[in-house]
Amino acid sequence: MCGIVGITRDTSVAGDLIKYLKKLEYRGYDSAGAAFSDENGLERVRRVGKIANLEKALEKGYEKYTCGIAHTRWATHGGVEERNAHPLFSSDGRVAVVHNGIIENAAFIKEKILPEGETFASDTDTEVIAHLISFYYENDPVRAVAEATSRLEGSYAIGVMFSDRPGEIYASSLHSPLVIAQTEDGSYLASDVLALPDRAKEIYRPGKGEIGVLSGKSVDFYDVSGNRLEKRPSEVGDSEKDVGKGSYEHYMLSEIMQQPEAVGNTLRELVYGGEVHVESVVGDTFISDKMDQIYIVACGSAYHTGLVAQLLFEKYSRVRTSVVLASEFRYASPILDKNTLVIFVSQSGETADTLAALRLVKETDAKTLSIVNVKGSSLWIESESSILTRAGREIAVATTKAYSAQLAAFYALALKFAYLRKGLSPEEYAAKCDALLELPEKIALTINMTRNKIVSLAKRIKDEQSAFYIGRLLDGASAAEGSLKLKEVSYINSQCYAAGELKHGTLSLIEEGTPVIASITQSGVAAKTLSNVSETKARGAYDVVITFEKYADICKDASELIIIPETDEIFAPSLTVIPMQMLGYYTALYRGCDIDKPKNLAKSVTVE
Ligand code: M6R
Repeated sequence: MCGIVGITRDTSVAGDLIKYLKKLEYRGYDSAGAAFSDENGLERVRRVGKIANLEKALEKGYEKYTCGIAHTRWATHGGVEERNAHPLFSSDGRVAVVHNGIIENAAFIKEKILPEGETFASDTDTEVIAHLISFYYENDPVRAVAEATSRLEGSYAIGVMFSDRPGEIYASSLHSPLVIAQTEDGSYLASDVLALPDRAKEIYRPGKGEIGVLSGKSVDFYDVSGNRLEKRPSEVGDSEKDVGKGSYEHYMLSEIMQQPEAVGNTLRELVYGGEVHVESVVGDTFISDKMDQIYIVACGSAYHTGLVAQLLFEKYSRVRTSVVLASEFRYASPILDKNTLVIFVSQSGETADTLAALRLVKETDAKTLSIVNVKGSSLWIESESSILTRAGREIAVATTKAYSAQLAAFYALALKFAYLRKGLSPEEYAAKCDALLELPEKIALTINMTRNKIVSLAKRIKDEQSAFYIGRLLDGASAAEGSLKLKEVSYINSQCYAAGELKHGTLSLIEEGTPVIASITQSGVAAKTLSNVSETKARGAYDVVITFEKYADICKDASELIIIPETDEIFAPSLTVIPMQMLGYYTALYRGCDIDKPKNLAKSVTVE
């Protein structure tokens, strides 16, 4: 997590450091800081809290600086205090560092490499980087950065300035995103393309052991031995740009509204001519009869899309499928061989737990496929094959459109597997492909049909202490996502359960007025779930049922009925999640929460 930026050019940088840092606030927002270099050495300003606090502190007196680095923090090592905010300095004040990542051997470096008695001003792991670079620094900054980074274990993207090198920024990265650009007016670095100027059309991504040297006029790259490298930039893709929040107050609502487009764009590349085309990414070996095990590995909402896919893969393709949280996967001794396919799902493509799992699988004979929203991300690059979701840039911490795009990609994959493994007849396959392509329109319709009711419902539940989401099978998967959406942005303690499980313990928590949100769309279990809803109602629950018109009659006793458009029931999760996302959004709105940046969270979780 954390975000870093750096600028060196002929004109003042303080304003733009803040401007670009704000674009990275989604990566963490506990504290922020900036350091500047000029012929008098290094100058630093740090503030606890949002970037706005740093912005205020920089309002006067910093216009003169033309070279600086800045940081927005999501605390990992050391509390949220000014002394732990970046940039961190070496004890002799010669080196300033901003860092995204985690240094796992910080204690070892302090004890075994740095001189005895070295004093530290913070509780962070980052400070050892500044000390280490200064320790190795004589006259050659590239050498010092190379020596120091070769000792680091863990992950890092760093921007470094030296007190006797005004106008220069040194950069390096390992397992943490870092982009560098040269424009006509100067050189820039950032954790994300989003935080580069729009005029930066080409970017460099430093590889392992490469060191970037930014001066106002050029960007050069060196290897660990100090040899100059010829490095080619790559173009900035459209999906990497921020499309803004339009007329909406928050990114989350804007992104909810963008879902028909996100799903449509994703499906357009995968489903056409009456069938699914994933041949280029999913070769024969992936779908042969020999493939006997699928693992889906992901975190958070991406994991929830896996719950949907698991049910479809097993039902229609008859392949054993396990969905595993990425943070558990690598420690759980999964059985991986050449007949195993492991699918990684991620919006950012930079989630540390998911990447660690991928790297583990790559050491085995299993095949790897990623479903990822950011082209050029680590997951996209390192997986054997990838399906790119086309949700476009997602800014709100709570995912909505990327989740829907991931579901769409999984649907396409599930239909293809099912057809090839004879789980669907050609007619059924064609009908389901057609129904899948109708999803964008149906999502738009769902937004229109449910929004007003959800606004009223949000007002009704906004002061509740807790809520429950229930469902069975595919409805259970949606419940998991709906529950996460509510708790993530509104901070209401919401929990999700398989509907049939409540009576085994959780019913004791139902009180007069407790909201219980159920989706009922699966014909085989609709009546059963309804009975479970009734059990909660009998104990005072305020029950909200999300369902198709065809079940409206049997669900008529619900406190609230939310009707979604008809669709093939296997695609229902793409529709039931829409009112649930809006319920999270509007409830948070009426509770006055910081919707796009919920407390304690960050968009891209780049620490394990
Ligand atoms: O970038 P990823 O999809 O790998 O992120 C995974 C989770 O951190 C993410 O889905 C998280 O749960 C969202 N904030 C949920 O809205």
